[in-house]
Amino acid sequence: MKALLICVLLGAGVLFGVIIVQGGVAQSEGPPLGLPPVPIPEDNPQAVAKIELGKTLLNDKRFSATGEVSCATCHAEEKAFTDSPLTVSEGINKLTGTRNAPTVLNGVYMETMFWDGRSPSLEDQALHPFVNPVEMGLEDHEPILEIVRSDPKYVKAFKSVFGKTGKDVTMKEVTQAIAAFERAQVVANTPFDRWYYGGEEGALTESQRRGFEIFINQGRCVSCHVVEQTQALFTDNRFHNVGVGINNIQKDIPRLAREFLRAEATATEVNVKVLTDKKSSELSRFAVARTFDDLGAFKTPTLRNVALTAPYMHDGSLETLRDVVVHYNNGGVTNEGDPVNDFLSGGIRPLQLTDKEIDDLVAFMEALTIPEFAHLADEAGKK
Ligand code: HEC
Ligand code: HEC
Repeated sequence: MKALLICVLLGAGVLFGVIIVQGGVAQSEGPPLGLPPVPIPEDNPQAVAKIELGKTLLNDKRFSATGEVSCATCHAEEKAFTDSPLTVSEGINKLTGTRNAPTVLNGVYMETMFWDGRSPSLEDQALHPFVNPVEMGLEDHEPILEIVRSDPKYVKAFKSVFGKTGKDVTMKEVTQAIAAFERAQVVANTPFDRWYYGGEEGALTESQRRGFEIFINQGRCVSCHVVEQTQALFTDNRFHNVGVGINNIQKDIPRLAREFLRAEATATEVNVKVLTDKKSSELSRFAVARTFDDLGAFKTPTLRNVALTAPYMHDGSLETLRDVVVHYNNGGVTNEGDPVNDFLSGGIRPLQLTDKEIDDLVAFMEALTIPEFAHLADEAGKK
C-alpha cells in the first residue's frame, strides 16, 4: 500500500511506477513484470495533470441525478476498482442494474469495453454511465458540462490540460481525462509474475504451482484466460458462453432475440436495455453482434486481482472462486445435473478435477493479487 500512498500523495494517481514523468508529460517506462506495453491512443497522450483531472472527475458525485453517485461508487479503488461484495451494481436511489462491476485495473488492455464489448474504447465507455437510468441517471450530459465550465477548479484544470475554456470544453475532453486516469491503472508484479516471469522460485506455494499446472493443462483455463511467454493478460479479449445466466432464459431466447432484432436497437438503447432488463442482459454479445453464435457469450474477464472482487461472473451469481471452479468442473453448469445450455462454448467440458485439485486451482488464482492489495486479500480470508 506504500507505493499506492506515495503515488496518491504525489497527486499523479499513477499506480506503481509504470509511467514516469518528464516535463509534465507522462512517458511509459516499460510495463511492470508480466504485462505488455501500455497502448496509448495518439490523440489522447498521457500527462500527469490529465490523469489527476481524470481522477477528480471519476470521483465527482455531482455528475449524477441525485448527487450521490460517482464512477468510484461502483469502481472503488480500495476494492480493486469494483463494488465487491455487491452482486450487481447499485446506482442512484439504490436502483440495481443487471451486471457485476468489472475492475478498471488493467482495463487499458481490453480491446472492447463492457461484458458484451458494446463500447470500443475507454473514452467511449465513459459517456454511458452518466446517462444510464440505473447508474448515474442524468437526462443528458449538459449538467456535467455546466459544472466543468463553471467550477473554478475545473476551469483551471481544463485550461491547463487541454488549453480550453467555456464552450470549447466538451464531453470529449471530459472522457479523455477519465480514460487517461484509467490507463494509468496498470498493475502486475504479483507472486505469479515474480515466479513465472521473474524466476523467483519461492514466490508461489506448492499448491499454487500445482494449480498453475491445472490451469494450463487439465483445466484448459489458459485457452481463454491467456498466459504468454512474456506476459499474461488472463483474457483473450473474446466472448464465450460458459453457461452462466443463460440457463434461466433458455425458453425465452427465440422471443427475446426476435424482439431485439425487430427493435433494431440503437447503440444507446442497447446500453439502457442490457442494464435495466434482466432477460435482455443475458443475450449479451448477441445484442451487439446480432449473431446466434454469440448468445449468452460474455467477454473473458482478466483474472488479475480476482481474489478481491467476489462475487463472480457477469451477473455476480457465483459467490466464491471455489464456486467458479466447481461450475467449470461440472462442464459449464452451476448445479451438477442441470441441463447444459444450447450455446455453450465448445471449450467448456466436464474436467474431472478432484477436491484437492480444485483447491490448488483456487490457490493459484490467489497468487494473482498485486502486493499493494495483499492486505485486502488477508482481510477477505479472515471473514
Ligand atoms: C452504478 C454503478 C456504476 C457506475 C456509477 C459506473 N460503473 Fe462502470 N461499470 C459498472 C458495471 C455494472 C459495468 C459492466 C456493465 C456491462 O458490462 O454491461 C461497468 C463497466 C465499466 C467498464 C468496462 C470494463 C471492462 O472490462 O469491460 C469501465 C471502463 C467502467 N465501467 C468505467 C466507469 C466510469 C469511467 C464510470 C463513470 C463515468 C463508471 N464506470 C460508472 C458499474 C458502474
Ligand atoms: C471458453 C473460454 C473460457 C475457459 C476455457 C475458461 N474461462 Fe473463465 N471465464 C470465461 C468467460 C467468458 C467468463 C465470464 C463469463 C460470464 O460472466 O458469463 C469467465 C469468468 C471467469 C471467472 C470470473 C471472473 C470475474 O471477475 O467474475 C473466473 C474466476 C474464471 N473464469 C476462471 C476460470 C478457470 C479457473 C478456468 C479453468 C478451469 C476457466 N476460467 C476457463 C472464459 C473462459
